[in-house]
Amino acid sequence: MCGIVGYVGPRQSEAILIAGLARLEYRGYDSAGIAVIDDGGHLGMRKKAGKLNALRDDLKAHALPDGTTGIGHTRWATHGGPTDANAHPHLADDDRLAVIHNGIVENYASLKGDLISKGYAFRSETDTEVAAVLLGREYRANGGDLVEAFRTTVNRLEGAFTLLAVHQDHPGLVVGARRNSPLVIGIGEGENFLASDVAAFVEHTRSALAIGQDEIVAITPSGVEVTDFAGNAVEVEPFEVTWDATAAEKGGWPSFMAKEVSEEPEAVANTLRGRIRDGAVAIPELDGLDELFRDISRIVVIAAGTAAYAGMVGKYALEQWARVPVDVDLAHEFHYRDPVIGPDTLVVSISQSGETMDTLMAVKYARERGAKTLSICNTQGATIPRESDAIVYTHAGPEVAVASTKAFVAQITALYLLALHIASVRGTLSATEIAQQVLELEALPAKIQHILDTDQSRIEQFAHWMADTRSVLFLGRHVGYPIALEGALKLKEISYIHAEGFAAGELKHGPIALIEPGQPVFVIVPSPRESALLHSKVVSNIREIHARGARVIAVAEEGDAAVLPISDEVLHIPLAGPLFGPVLGVVPLHIFAMGLATSKGLDVDQPRNLAKSVTVE
Ligand code: M6R
Repeated sequence: MCGIVGYVGPRQSEAILIAGLARLEYRGYDSAGIAVIDDGGHLGMRKKAGKLNALRDDLKAHALPDGTTGIGHTRWATHGGPTDANAHPHLADDDRLAVIHNGIVENYASLKGDLISKGYAFRSETDTEVAAVLLGREYRANGGDLVEAFRTTVNRLEGAFTLLAVHQDHPGLVVGARRNSPLVIGIGEGENFLASDVAAFVEHTRSALAIGQDEIVAITPSGVEVTDFAGNAVEVEPFEVTWDATAAEKGGWPSFMAKEVSEEPEAVANTLRGRIRDGAVAIPELDGLDELFRDISRIVVIAAGTAAYAGMVGKYALEQWARVPVDVDLAHEFHYRDPVIGPDTLVVSISQSGETMDTLMAVKYARERGAKTLSICNTQGATIPRESDAIVYTHAGPEVAVASTKAFVAQITALYLLALHIASVRGTLSATEIAQQVLELEALPAKIQHILDTDQSRIEQFAHWMADTRSVLFLGRHVGYPIALEGALKLKEISYIHAEGFAAGELKHGPIALIEPGQPVFVIVPSPRESALLHSKVVSNIREIHARGARVIAVAEEGDAAVLPISDEVLHIPLAGPLFGPVLGVVPLHIFAMGLATSKGLDVDQPRNLAKSVTVE
């Protein structure tokens, strides 16, 4: 889950690498380092435990010489704690070679044992240094061909990795390889880039190339060569980054999370754009797939974390509208339990980053078993969509804060579009029924904006009052249930407060024992107009906890009078159809979590122990 950047060109690389790392810091932020080959052909390297600022300070005190070739790394520790020694780059070949790495080299212990027995010494506890030492050895053995040495090395590694290397004998060359970890190429004018994510180079170029699995790339200022692990030339897929550098900047907001919550209306609107025509859903990416949608007998949604909660929301729409049975599986559980899937199964993966290793492995597993795969993803050129039969991109724009917010609402939007599309193909909804739901979808951005405009400050103030709370519960029913789970995840993730989400109907089967006087409980209340029965059930649940002294915070439709006497606080959401109201209900929960963490003085963008994309299993 580390961030990687490489540069070759005419400009001084240090500033480019540091700026690139700043944009990748969301991927890991427990240490950082850069290596630069200077104009005299010497390799200089600095690395430091802590956030990128620690490296910046270190570079002020120990300046690296100028150099136009370099690599940089921001780390999320796997093997070895977050120390200076374990930070990347790792050096080998008498400190003439530097290597950075994202992923896990699974056979590092046996390789390390072998190298130690041959007399090699190690300075860190990392798996990466093993790859570096191995590369140095291969380089010496083959007489100084860096690309070939790299090929021999990566063929000996098992696991998931992106590796970049520079050698002082080869100024103007950065070599990279990927297996199950992200790596993209940025094509500039007389300069080229490698990075885990286009965000690292988008301020310099929006022309990019996606590298496939098990491929090696060598960049020089004037060229890019991609080969497979066997050495055969490979065609790479060009793409244009659809957003510019400003989209990945805070732009005056106190945090990326604040900016991204403010972009929730736009994320929904952009995901809808170009996919609705005359009241019908028309998703160009799904053209030609009607037969697939007609033939499937079930759908399995796989995802992790917030994306899985979006999947749970989508299940209600897919089953209700498209009448296809849907299971939602946590990706990391899916392929370890011999699931029953086959050619009649559509496996829908959901991932903001498109790089989550658990989800990627589940997609590969599904494909191996003959299932059709469709990826809902927010990141162009990412691995999961490339491994899938079909893609529906969410157009939420870059999401930098570790806590996923705008991607969540965009994922639900994409799932709802998909459900309506399948319903149309399978004839399970009439054109009029689809048009009604399309109207609801189209109304979402304005309704989310309304919540932000009218209630954000009040919710933040309320969160501020609750800053000393030690535990918060969230209850929801039907589509409100995954919203409760999402509310709890967001709170625990960024405010480090114990939070749990429950299905409201489950309350009496155990969780009600947790209710004691003053216990804050958020309840996502269904619309009384649209779902009278569900509403009455949830109101009963509120009565049960209110009677036991819980502090009830109802997230309820405007005008819902029934909740007023039994709630301590009501967060209002605009009127919407039954599947849409709870989706609006997540907005106050995002604001609340952010407000509470901010009140506690925590870094909402980079919460402890976490990274934005989890690219290890
Ligand atoms: O990039 P992905 O959508 O695949 O990420 C999945 C989860 O790791 C992610 O949603 C995580 O749960 C978030 N940090 C939650 O805010």
